[in-house]
Amino acid sequence: MAAVGAAALLPSHPSHASDDSFPTDAMAMLNRFHPPRPDWYAELYATAMNTSMKSYEAEIEGYKSELFANLRGQAKQILEIGIGTGPNLKYYASEGGTSVYGVDPNRKMEKYAQAAAEAAGLPPANFKFLHAVSESLPLRDASVDAVIGTLVLCSVADVNLALQEIRRVLKPGGLYLFVEHVAATDGTVLRFVQQLLDPLQQTLADGCHLTRKTGKDITEAGFSNVSESLPLRDASVDAVIGTLVLCSVADVNLTLQEVRKVLKPGGIYLFVEHVAAAVLRFVQGLLDPLQQMLADGCHLTRKTGKNITEEGFSNVIVIKLYYQLPR
Ligand SMILES: C[S@@+](CC[C@H](N)C(=O)[O-])C[C@H]1O[C@@H](n2cnc3c(N)ncnc32)[C@H](O)[C@@H]1O
Repeated sequence: MAAVGAAALLPSHPSHASDDSFPTDAMAMLNRFHPPRPDWYAELYATAMNTSMKSYEAEIEGYKSELFANLRGQAKQILEIGIGTGPNLKYYASEGGTSVYGVDPNRKMEKYAQAAAEAAGLPPANFKFLHAVSESLPLRDASVDAVIGTLVLCSVADVNLALQEIRRVLKPGGLYLFVEHVAATDGTVLRFVQQLLDPLQQTLADGCHLTRKTGKDITEAGFSNVSESLPLRDASVDAVIGTLVLCSVADVNLTLQEVRKVLKPGGIYLFVEHVAAAVLRFVQGLLDPLQQMLADGCHLTRKTGKNITEEGFSNVIVIKLYYQLPR
């Protein structure tokens, strides 16, 4: 699962660093949030990122093109956190006058990022690789038009601090564009598998966590207009399936709009959802806060059938399923 999207910033910034000086203890912060790894490990990880992500990048190309199109004519000073080997530069760096800061604690990524910047047509003077961490960005308050981060918040040591820093360095009205993988819904098989693999993933992929609720963290970080969208092109799938999902999403209507957007004409949306009851409604209302707390935001009293019916799908068929005690 991925939380992806664009977030515009409120015109207010917490001031974490002073306006006219970079943090003096940048190296201390780097060591604190990303203690030095052995050279061979940093090199191996950088090489692996450079070679093994090619098929993923090809698959997500259409989506990234759409996402980064948000920057056209909007952003001259861009910061990319966790830039890695620089796979995003080709989408946004070719516009004349663009300057990019690429932050990454792994120095071994630098040569790949430099090469990607050059291949994207960015003059050398307009690209600067900063050996630093997102938790302590060596940039002034309100100094960049956009921040980009793809598959990074899974790896930083402190997600909330990184998000505060993103807000701090963004100019008022600036954009934060992200693609992140997140934890699957609690209680699902996928989530169980993620939990099993999480320690191994952290060891092999330089601290990458599989079970973070990054979408929730971003939503709660104080950006305005956070929009999450599916990392798929419009009209690209024949069917969408979702069972016991709309009870838990943050915005049902937005999710349904996304489902419609990615379905091909004539495509099918198949769902099984629990909804607010008629007679049981009072009990559901009582249990709802507890359920939300215990089941990762699952709501018992949503009128999901109504939402789906009103979303504008044709031929909505709602089948009611009842549990009946044996006689
Ligand atoms: C999975 S890679 C993604 C790289 C690139 N953004 C991409 O999409 O291919 C995660 C990157 O985050 C970097 N990273 C790890 N901890 C970080 C931190 N605290 N601040 C910034 N970047 C960090 C890693 O060095 C690595 O380059």
